[in-house]
Amino acid sequence: MNRPNFDELRSIQFFSEMSNRDLRMVARFANTKKHSKGEIIIREDTVADTFYIIQKGKVAITKKFEDGEEMVLAVQHDGEFFGEMALLDQGPRSASAVALESTVLLEISRNDFAVLLKKAPLLAYSMMRELSARLRGTGALLISELQRKNRELRHAYRETVNAVVNTLEARDPYTHGHTERVTAIAKSIASSIALEKELDEDDLFTIEIGALLHDVGKIGVPDAVLRKPGPLEIREILQIQEHPAKGKHILDNIGYLEQALPCILHHHERFDGQGYPEQIAGEMIPLPGRIISVADAFDAMTSDRPYRKKMDYQSAFREIEENAGRQFDPEIVEAFGKLLKSGMIEQLIKAKKARSDIDSTAGIA
Ligand SMILES: [Fe+2]
Repeated sequence: MNRPNFDELRSIQFFSEMSNRDLRMVARFANTKKHSKGEIIIREDTVADTFYIIQKGKVAITKKFEDGEEMVLAVQHDGEFFGEMALLDQGPRSASAVALESTVLLEISRNDFAVLLKKAPLLAYSMMRELSARLRGTGALLISELQRKNRELRHAYRETVNAVVNTLEARDPYTHGHTERVTAIAKSIASSIALEKELDEDDLFTIEIGALLHDVGKIGVPDAVLRKPGPLEIREILQIQEHPAKGKHILDNIGYLEQALPCILHHHERFDGQGYPEQIAGEMIPLPGRIISVADAFDAMTSDRPYRKKMDYQSAFREIEENAGRQFDPEIVEAFGKLLKSGMIEQLIKAKKARSDIDSTAGIA
C-alpha cells in the first residue's frame, strides 16, 4: 500500500477546493500507484471495485462495440477521473482504461470509500457532489460529440444513397428529380405529424432514406418497360409492380437500411387493401409507406410524363382528396392538404427544381 502524501493530494485539481483537514483524511484512505505505458488499468465487463483519479499522466477510455471494433471515448489527463461507478455498485465496467504514457493514479477502493462515508460523511458527500458535477459536464460533452458523429454519419449515409438514386434516375429522364421532390414532400408531411404520431429524429431520418430509395427496385425492371412511352400491357404492368419487392430484396442484407425497408416495400399499398405487393390495408400499412404513397402520387401527377401533361397543384390535390380512404390514408391527406395550403409544398418543389436544373446544366444528373 502506498499512501499519498498531503502535498501530492493538494496538487490534484479534483481536491483543490477541499480543506486541509479533509484532505488529510482522504490521504489515509487513498493509494497511489504507478502504471506503465500501455498497461490496461481496468478492463470492460470486469467487476468494478476501485475509483481512479489521474495524479499525473494520460489515460484513454475505450469501449468495444458489437462488431468488435474498439473506440476511444475520451483521453483523460491530470486531475480527471474514471471508474467512479465502482463507488456505488459492483456492476461490470462499461469501458476499459489504458495508460497512454507512464501514469500515476490515485486509487480509492469501494471498501475504503464505505469506511470514509462512515467516518467522515460530510467529506464523502462533498466528493460525491464533485463527482456528480464533473460527470454532468463529461456527459454533456460526450453527448454533443456523439451528436456530431451522428450528423456526420447521416450526411455520409445520405450522400451514398443519393449517388444510388442519381444512377437510377439517369435511366429515365422523365423521372428526373422525382425522387428528391418525393423525399422533400414526405419529410415535410412526416415532420408536420411528428408530435401527434410520436416520430422522433431517427424515424424522420428513416422516412427520408426510405423515400430516397422507394423506387430502387426499378433497377430490376427492363428499360423497354420502364421507358415505354405508350400505355402498358398487363404483363408489363405486372413487371413494374414487382419493383417494391425487388427493392426490398436488393437492400435486404444491408443492416443499416433495415428500418427503411417498409417504406420501399409498402409505398404502393392502398388504404383499402387493393394495392400491392401485400395488399395490406389501413394502419397495417407502415406509416412511412402511407406518407410516401401520397408524396409519390402528388409529384407524379404534377410532373410531365411522355403520355400526359402535368396537372396543376389544386387539381392534383382534389384527386388525392377524392381518393382519401380508398388509395390514401385520410389523416395523411389532411396533413398534406394543410402543407399545400400554406404554400410550403410549392416552395419545396421550386427549390428542388431549381437545384436539379443547376445539376443538369452542370452535367451532374
Ligand atoms: Fe414506386
